[in-house]
Amino acid sequence: MSKKIIGFSKLSKQEKIEWICSNYLDNSKEDIEILDKYLNSDINTQSLHDSFSENTLSNFYLPFSVAPNFLINNNNYCLPMVIEESSVVAAASNSAKFWYDKGGFSANVIGIEKIGQIHFLFNGDSQKINSFVNDNMTKLIDSTSSISLKMKERGGGINSINLIDKSSEYNNYFQLSVSFNTIDSMGANYINSCLENITKKLIEEIKISNELTEEEKDINIIMSILSNSTPNCIVEAKAKCKINEIGDINGLSGNKFAEKFFHAVGISKIDLGRAVTNNKGIMNGIDSVLISTGNDFRAVEASIHSYACKDGKYKGLTECSIDNDIFSIKLKLPIAIGTVGGIIDLHPLVKLSHKILGKPNSSTLMEIVAVAGLAQNFAAIKSLITTGIQKGHMKMHLINLLKKNNANEDQITNAIDFFKEKEINTQAVQDFLNSN
Ligand code: MEV
Repeated sequence: MSKKIIGFSKLSKQEKIEWICSNYLDNSKEDIEILDKYLNSDINTQSLHDSFSENTLSNFYLPFSVAPNFLINNNNYCLPMVIEESSVVAAASNSAKFWYDKGGFSANVIGIEKIGQIHFLFNGDSQKINSFVNDNMTKLIDSTSSISLKMKERGGGINSINLIDKSSEYNNYFQLSVSFNTIDSMGANYINSCLENITKKLIEEIKISNELTEEEKDINIIMSILSNSTPNCIVEAKAKCKINEIGDINGLSGNKFAEKFFHAVGISKIDLGRAVTNNKGIMNGIDSVLISTGNDFRAVEASIHSYACKDGKYKGLTECSIDNDIFSIKLKLPIAIGTVGGIIDLHPLVKLSHKILGKPNSSTLMEIVAVAGLAQNFAAIKSLITTGIQKGHMKMHLINLLKKNNANEDQITNAIDFFKEKEINTQAVQDFLNSN
């Protein structure tokens, strides 16, 4: 076992590589070569990537793909997607193609509110702390004026500050809930800086308050941080068509397809196991566009999964209806993202993604991302209720299986041909390679 190391972050990249190699990789020359191989040959590009994180040794590649034919609000987009799961981009493209001739997708933003919270313990009269916050509202908001200047110029800033009494749920617990409009930025840094200024001002003003007793002045600030629950930063994505436009899908009539789809969605509303998997399929589309556009997919994941529990029970997020021979699907979910700030203005491939999308503002990007989720979910359910997921998935996974078994280029070409009409699994691929 290696010894505890102090000051690792202060070591040079070379020293860090030497340390990890001697402590965890048996000084393997091959492993050093792998780290080396994934470095960018352009010094500036490499140094840019090194600066994104701490203790960087190399770069970690994921495929950068595109899915064309996404007709969204009558604009034809080609979606940049970053994901390692082999069938996701193919499924997205398939879905986009299916909906293109049926009018495509429509999407609209319903709300863009983001929330920051100051959590504190107050042992005293709740009426008095409420009046205190209301009386000092302007001072609290003004404490952020130096950092809010640019945001205000763009039409954003703080909407309101509300005191929430949570003392019946947790002893003495109160919260300042600050509502923000961060325009085109995800706003995490802006929100957190504002919260820290408001917290300082709150402490300052409490100290000199004539209304609060000495005991009441002794408030205990626990923490100030944005909330990744964004139930009022909502976007809706939809697609619909006449049932007779669906046509025959893998031997299933349009009617039967719509009916089975409806039930698949219904099941995700009442069964947790299916709900989570349904929503995971949605996240396949959402996360891959979020990553390509430099957004924080963990924040959106957290927010969306909490939204899936908003009725007190975790549910599938998809809606499906069949009315007057119209088949409709819909997603309504929170997507708090940005088109400026963070690595968006720095990472060359992220910048390229925004360019491919026509440099959307954050509301338009919310719509695009929601559609990516809906398209992905549609493709997954379409496969599940017809051929089963493995047919398409294993077709895409075949190359991975071949490479894992060290197939050469000829074997790969022949295998693709051989497995066109055959079941693909690990054993079948190994048998093929043994006899070819
Ligand atoms: C696989 O990554 C995603 C699916 O399981 C989603 C679903 O079942 O709806 C196919």
